[in-house]
Amino acid sequence: MPAERSAAFGPGRVNLIGEHTDYNQGLALPFAIAEGVTVRGQPLPRESRDAQRVSAYARDLDEHDEFSLAAPPRARGWRAFVRGTTAELASAGFPLVGTRLEITGDLPAGAGLSSSAALEVALCLALADVGARVCPAGAKTVRRVEIAQLCARVENDWVGAQTGLLDQLASLYGVAENALCIDFQTLHVEPVPLRLGRWRLVVLDSGERHVTARSGYNERRAECAQACRLLGVESLREASPSAVERLPEPLRRRARHVLGENERVLQAVAALQADELARIGQLLDASHESLRDCYEASTPAVEATVERMRAAGAAGARMVGGGFGGSVLGLFAPDTHPPAGAREVRPSAGAHLLEG
Ligand code: GLA
Repeated sequence: MPAERSAAFGPGRVNLIGEHTDYNQGLALPFAIAEGVTVRGQPLPRESRDAQRVSAYARDLDEHDEFSLAAPPRARGWRAFVRGTTAELASAGFPLVGTRLEITGDLPAGAGLSSSAALEVALCLALADVGARVCPAGAKTVRRVEIAQLCARVENDWVGAQTGLLDQLASLYGVAENALCIDFQTLHVEPVPLRLGRWRLVVLDSGERHVTARSGYNERRAECAQACRLLGVESLREASPSAVERLPEPLRRRARHVLGENERVLQAVAALQADELARIGQLLDASHESLRDCYEASTPAVEATVERMRAAGAAGARMVGGGFGGSVLGLFAPDTHPPAGAREVRPSAGAHLLEG
């Protein structure tokens, strides 16, 4: 690869358990998957009049975008992610240069596997690396947690989704054959070996696209904030179960989900440490029930997909990600067979620069 070119890969993620806990400063247990987004970057020629511009090509969609590095205008769809990531990197002081980007990927968008975080993270690594190769003097070393926070600002301020840090941290910190126990109060990330043996984790797309910025996601987040105001706490992590019981509905159900889900993450870590995969299956079922009944984040298409997993003999199944559509995760014991269309997912390495 010529010296000033760069390429980066950002993986998608599956969350084993711990849903809608990140923005409540709770716990989650996601893992990065092998599928994701690749961004290739090369500086525009120095003599080019357009050197202070970014030109992006989304190969899978066969769509282009071009914008000024200095002040990218707002946009929608995939362009919002590219422009927002560029603008946030620039304002965080990364030395960026006019760059031509090419984006490819093998993650379905809107399927709840975090294609947007995969894109943001790969863009960050590729754009920052091109900038550092062209201007080595200005190169910046940053902690991955700061990249995750920068990407979350893209979601919040450029895309309009009030998401937390789950997807970006999972994509950035992934470790092959491990899940990551994330504590969102301290932002500590602890790899936990996920020894599947002959068991399989699969995802099945409900076929219902979810767009976080337009689903009930922001409403749920606002309900949790309202519950905190009534309880007089900074986050639901500090709320006691007895105080939660005094909340008015639907806030009580929402908070019950969050407290119960944090507890299930701890139980899942203990089950993984003891190699009790059947117990993980029970926890997946309990998480789904709570997301459906307390958090009301399921839909008929998601329920039908969970049913297909169960009918095929899943040891446990639940919706993953923000909900309101997207994919369902299922755990299958040896010699059981996931339904047609399910794809196996394996805990894989986190975001990285690619050689050659
Ligand atoms: C989406 C968001 C995450 C997280 C999950 C729910 O994936 O991007 O921040 O809130 O939903 O757990």
